[in-house]
Amino acid sequence: MENKNFRFETEAIHSGYSSTEHQGSLVPPLYQTSTFTFSTAEQGERRFVGQEEGFIYSRLGNPTVKILEDRMAKLEQGEAALAFSSGMAAVSAVLTALTKTGDHILCSQGVYGCTFGLLQLLKGKYHIGHDFSAMTTREMIEKDLQPNTSCIYIETPINPTMKLVDLELVATIAKQRGIPVVVDNTFCSPYLQTPISHGCDVVIHSATKYICGHGDVIAGVIIGKSDFIEQVSRTTQKDMGGIISPFDAWLLLRGLKTLPVRMDRHCENASMLVGFLQNHPKVESLYFPGQSDYENDHTIMDKQMKKPGGLLSFSIKGTKETAQLFMNQLNLIKIAVSLGDAETLIQHPATMTHAVVPEEERRKMGIEDTLLRLSVGLEAWEDIKEDLEQALAKI
Ligand SMILES: Cc1ncc(COP(=O)(O)O)c(C=O)c1O
Repeated sequence: MENKNFRFETEAIHSGYSSTEHQGSLVPPLYQTSTFTFSTAEQGERRFVGQEEGFIYSRLGNPTVKILEDRMAKLEQGEAALAFSSGMAAVSAVLTALTKTGDHILCSQGVYGCTFGLLQLLKGKYHIGHDFSAMTTREMIEKDLQPNTSCIYIETPINPTMKLVDLELVATIAKQRGIPVVVDNTFCSPYLQTPISHGCDVVIHSATKYICGHGDVIAGVIIGKSDFIEQVSRTTQKDMGGIISPFDAWLLLRGLKTLPVRMDRHCENASMLVGFLQNHPKVESLYFPGQSDYENDHTIMDKQMKKPGGLLSFSIKGTKETAQLFMNQLNLIKIAVSLGDAETLIQHPATMTHAVVPEEERRKMGIEDTLLRLSVGLEAWEDIKEDLEQALAKI
């Protein structure tokens, strides 16, 4: 195919793949193999020392996985990408690559529960400290950075409070100090937000979510500069081994083709439900990018997000038990963690995704016992609304 830059929707389908290099196969072939044969012993030697390009063993690289990585790099506007067996394998590879004993990580006010768990592990075992920061002003960021801060780790929108972080502001300050900025872009997918284009250095995805879109794969991807990706590929990934399987990469390539169409529908459905929930007498508060009471969020959203996304959180009037009673009344909406699937999913962060976060810390992150997170699916929004409506009527 002609080497030209196409629009996002076209790149999501074609980027990184040329059928002429694969017997004309329209769809990228699945190279379901653990290893690759060398035609001679000398060729094996040349590949191992890097004198000749070519595949060696699927933990070190695989053609189907490579197509996925090239496509993700293109969509995130990065130079290169690396795929992993899970989002957490990707998070841990990046954090271990960017830190050493005695370093410090500055994090956004909230992070996914298992990322929080990993930060505890790094602190307890390797003396790599961390702090959380609201990162709302230049002064606050500068005050919270330590002399030993070796990376800044951001989720935006923050899971599950939907608070936004100004990527350009953080990246500008970090650049002045030579500190890499890592962004977990899982909630947005590259269709809604491309952190590298705002000056950030590394993007992480739990590809389990919108990238896959069908709820049948656990995977992760990182995107960044070629030298960083190469370094992770040859160290943390190769030696710790959290690689993706070729079949899962193949499923992700399939999912990616419909990412823009799916995201548009997720966003439309979520916006319709926000209108309904915002005015419901049994709903205490609602959190949705650009619609929450957080100062400046609307401006930040306009600056860095194409649309508000397909996730929303809301708190129910009452107690934890009221929230659980409400969940138990739902029929169409499934009670499950994860997000970005065709099915609408609801979960209770305080007892599920963020259960590992101690209560005091959870409250600082804004995770109340009555807070629920809804991953709005692709069903007819009226059916989702009616399910919410009947369950709210029963509490
Ligand atoms: C924002 C975010 N980051 C990372 C992860 C971890 O991804 P995985 O479950 O694919 O390991 C999740 C999982 O829910 C997540 O929501």
